[in-house]
Amino acid sequence: MAQNIYDNPEFFTGYSQLARSVHGLEGAPEWPSIRALLPDLREKRVVDLGCGFGWFARWAREHGAACVLGLDVSENMIARAKASTNDDDIRYAIADLEKIELPEASFDFAYSSLALHYIEDFARLVRSVHRSLVPGACFIFSIEHPIYMAPTQPGWSVGNDGRRTWPVNRYAVEGPRRTDWFVKGVLKQHRTIGTTLNTLIDAGFLVRHVEEWAPTAEQLAAQPDLADEVERPMMLIVSAQR
Ligand SMILES: C[S@@+](CC[C@H](N)C(=O)[O-])C[C@H]1O[C@@H](n2cnc3c(N)ncnc32)[C@H](O)[C@@H]1O
Repeated sequence: MAQNIYDNPEFFTGYSQLARSVHGLEGAPEWPSIRALLPDLREKRVVDLGCGFGWFARWAREHGAACVLGLDVSENMIARAKASTNDDDIRYAIADLEKIELPEASFDFAYSSLALHYIEDFARLVRSVHRSLVPGACFIFSIEHPIYMAPTQPGWSVGNDGRRTWPVNRYAVEGPRRTDWFVKGVLKQHRTIGTTLNTLIDAGFLVRHVEEWAPTAEQLAAQPDLADEVERPMMLIVSAQR
């Protein structure tokens, strides 16, 4: 049974206040890097896995996508996405990515932003995404970088002064990890970079680009609070092609 933490009222209230929740794609510092990787979306049928508030779905349509299907397990997220969208060619649906079977050869582009590190059976989902894409289509996603993943035991990566130290402990031990983020014990799934990339390769994808995101000098000058992001990568961005 997938965790559905975004329907926890306390979590949802906290998440809703993040810059990326208030300002959308422009509030996400990794967006320029992702945007640079995107294919031409004109006339493309797009699926957004873990679409959240639907920011990308709307952007894709504004940039010519024929239609977008946004999927998310959270009723809160889907309700907000629907309320923020006035476009008959965007469809949002509540769906658990742990179980979903996407229709075969029905999308020209698959996208996912910061959702797949919640998925336990990543290999099953990647195979389904592969089947759902037409040959040559791209799958671009970001996940929480495994170096940033929570420690295996509470306190293991916390120094004497209570500040988090880096990198993550027991990197090679994959599986569930819990972290405190707005609420206690948010469940994420730790996988090494090797496992993530090999899972794509095993499913038949060609890995095109891998980015351990860090802010640019311009971003750092404009937003000094991004300084921690230079110490260790928080996000991994991958572009793959069927
Ligand atoms: C950090 S939010 C990102 C939302 C959006 N993609 C964005 O970048 O603004 C992660 C999203 O993944 C969704 N999610 C987590 N586990 C999921 C699952 N098993 N099935 C579908 N969606 C899931 C959450 O409900 C949440 O909306």
